Amino acid sequence: MKRVQRIGILTGGGDAPGLNAVIRAVTKTAIIEHGMEVVGIEDGFEGVMLNKFHLLQKHDVSGILTLGGTILGTSNKTNPYKYFDPKHPEATLKDLSKKALRNFAAMKIDCLVCIGGDGTMRIASRLFEDGLPVVGVPKTIDNDIIGTDVTFGFDTAVEIATEAIDRIHTTAMAHHRVMIVELMGRTAGWITLHAGVAGGGDILLIPEIPYFLDVICDKVKERSKKGKRFSIVVVSEGARPVDGNVVVKKIVQDPSQPVRLGGISFLLADQIEARTGLEARAVVLGHLQRGGTPSGFDRVLATQLGVGAVDLMTRQRFGYMVGVQGGKFVDVPFNEVSRGARLIPPDHVLIAAARSVGTCFGDR
Ligand code: F6P
Repeated sequence: MKRVQRIGILTGGGDAPGLNAVIRAVTKTAIIEHGMEVVGIEDGFEGVMLNKFHLLQKHDVSGILTLGGTILGTSNKTNPYKYFDPKHPEATLKDLSKKALRNFAAMKIDCLVCIGGDGTMRIASRLFEDGLPVVGVPKTIDNDIIGTDVTFGFDTAVEIATEAIDRIHTTAMAHHRVMIVELMGRTAGWITLHAGVAGGGDILLIPEIPYFLDVICDKVKERSKKGKRFSIVVVSEGARPVDGNVVVKKIVQDPSQPVRLGGISFLLADQIEARTGLEARAVVLGHLQRGGTPSGFDRVLATQLGVGAVDLMTRQRFGYMVGVQGGKFVDVPFNEVSRGARLIPPDHVLIAAARSVGTCFGDR
């Protein structure tokens, strides 16, 4: 098979701290170790459809290791297989994959590096099936990609959320309030579980364990009776009651994942206040969890994954994503990755540890 000499790189889906560290690692490794040319595609698959790309040199990626966001830009609206034309929003989604493949051919790249979450990996997988050599790098603050134990961006999000919970503690204590902190994560509770344990949340509500409202209220009242004049509830945006549904914030033009969750903390604050008579307030951390400089851990992981992606290409392992399993870097086939989201197993060791120190998960 032809040696990979010129590669394309794009970032797809929502951003995550560490994207630039991956772009830097891929570009530098490709140029320094293998003398390759690197084409940076702008705004994810939008740049493919609109032919927005430019050559990346070493100096373009110098000094970006610590930067949040992505120097290439990203989009979670564009899927070449279900293309939404913003100029004609009334039109139905079209399969423009043939055009995408033609545009890739015009870029004269031998392989594409897709950095993204499960939506991006699904597109990458289809492009690979349609003949494009592609490798993947897993990205998301949600930590929910199948085939890898960890994604870059997650550690930073946990750090930010933990600091927020710490800050919420002091104001909760001062006002003797029940504070509800809502965190991201879509259908997975990884951020809530980790930040909730790190921040000492009293009640953690995650999508994987539907909650009973009366269990939450009993816990809050019990704490109050024991003289604890505040309680901290950390809730995932995707949490839901046993007898109810998730709270949907809005439906967006995202062919892979149109539902945006959000707002459960306000509902819970009203319900807890009404049932316990204790004052409650809600805080939604939102995109703060994705912004700013990546943690040291995420910079290291992102660098290793970027180097790993180039390694996949030189071994001609197209159709694979670089993942981490049991502390080792492994090749994960795209079709495995696109099976869905990696959720927390109910018997996870960290859930057990949290229960051991008295943390409530709202279940019976
Ligand atoms: O997947 C990352 C994530 O931040 C989720 O945690 C969240 O549900 C979603 O993206 C928010 O998407 P958007 O940036 O489109 O509002």
